[in-house]
Amino acid sequence: MPTYEATSTAPVNIAVIKYWGKRDTALILPTNSSLSVTLDQDHLRSQTTSRCDESFEKGDRLWLNGKEEAVKADGRLGVCIRELRKMRSEVEQGDEKLPKLSQWPLRIASYNNFPTAAGLASSASGLAALVASLAQLYELPQSPSLLSCIARQGSGSACRSLFGGYVAWREGTSSDGSDSLAEEVASRDHWPEMHALICVVSDKKKGTSSTSGMQRTVETSPLLQHRLTLVPGRMKEMESAIASRDFDAFAALTMADSNNFHAVCLDTSPPIFYLNDVSRALIGLVEELNRASKEATGHLIAGYTFDAGPNCVIYALEGNIATVIRAVQRYFPTEAAFPDPFGVLGGKEAGEVDVK
Ligand code: DP6
Repeated sequence: MPTYEATSTAPVNIAVIKYWGKRDTALILPTNSSLSVTLDQDHLRSQTTSRCDESFEKGDRLWLNGKEEAVKADGRLGVCIRELRKMRSEVEQGDEKLPKLSQWPLRIASYNNFPTAAGLASSASGLAALVASLAQLYELPQSPSLLSCIARQGSGSACRSLFGGYVAWREGTSSDGSDSLAEEVASRDHWPEMHALICVVSDKKKGTSSTSGMQRTVETSPLLQHRLTLVPGRMKEMESAIASRDFDAFAALTMADSNNFHAVCLDTSPPIFYLNDVSRALIGLVEELNRASKEATGHLIAGYTFDAGPNCVIYALEGNIATVIRAVQRYFPTEAAFPDPFGVLGGKEAGEVDVK
């Protein structure tokens, strides 16, 4: 008997134009398009292995980092599995000889190669790896963009993790969500000098989840309406900044959009505070580095962004990343430091910095 098993990985992505708000909460259709940078596989990623077998006891089962989680049929995970099964069963209907994998129970095991407790988005990479592994197991012919429509229903930002490099999630206009999908706007190789420095400010679980926070924003924030008029222009500017490898424009837009997103969080009722004093001090540091760099060279050196939590991601180019790391380590000294994943410091100092 052959074994039907497939393993896939998907990296974390960090948005530079943020997704915040749903126009359809069931299908996970966003109120605006977004754009992210997918981090390298080697550093922060999820790996998922899926297996199906006729002899398995009825019902699908899933383990996250070794701990079993319930698979609810109408939950986000259950919806992703159902949609991928449907695709497989269409393939099976077209070829009688194929084994009926769509009817067999699944066993899925997923691991993150970074501490889940580090407060870094694991749902995006986790759901993307799950969709990729099932698509591989079922030998689905669908393109990554079509599969991103499924990952989107698991967690909005997950649709972007099915691609590497620079990725746009187009909000789409159809009510069934068929055109709300992710696509690569540029490959990693297009701008290989780009680096992301992750500053772990807190490893505690965030107080307000993205899902509930953004819903509260949609229901209560008048400022969100203004944000929605800004984003289409920013998407275009960001895409052209990436196309022309214009770091000044990329960094300025990234910081502006992060600040606008957190302003909208503050405008929510009750307000949502994701940033803490350390986050704000990091903003101050990057702004100061940029001021000095602008004065000396006429260019920005770095761009910060924050998701739904206090941790900071700083984008900088190869030639400047070591300066940024040293500045962060100088002002936020810490004993615990991850090894230098980029090798930019000759492996002696940290590239992913713990700044608690
Ligand atoms: C701030 O994708 O986690 O990281 O669709 O409800 O699962 P759900 O939300 P999620 O939200 C991510 C929000 C963000 C911005 C972004 O990644 O674009």
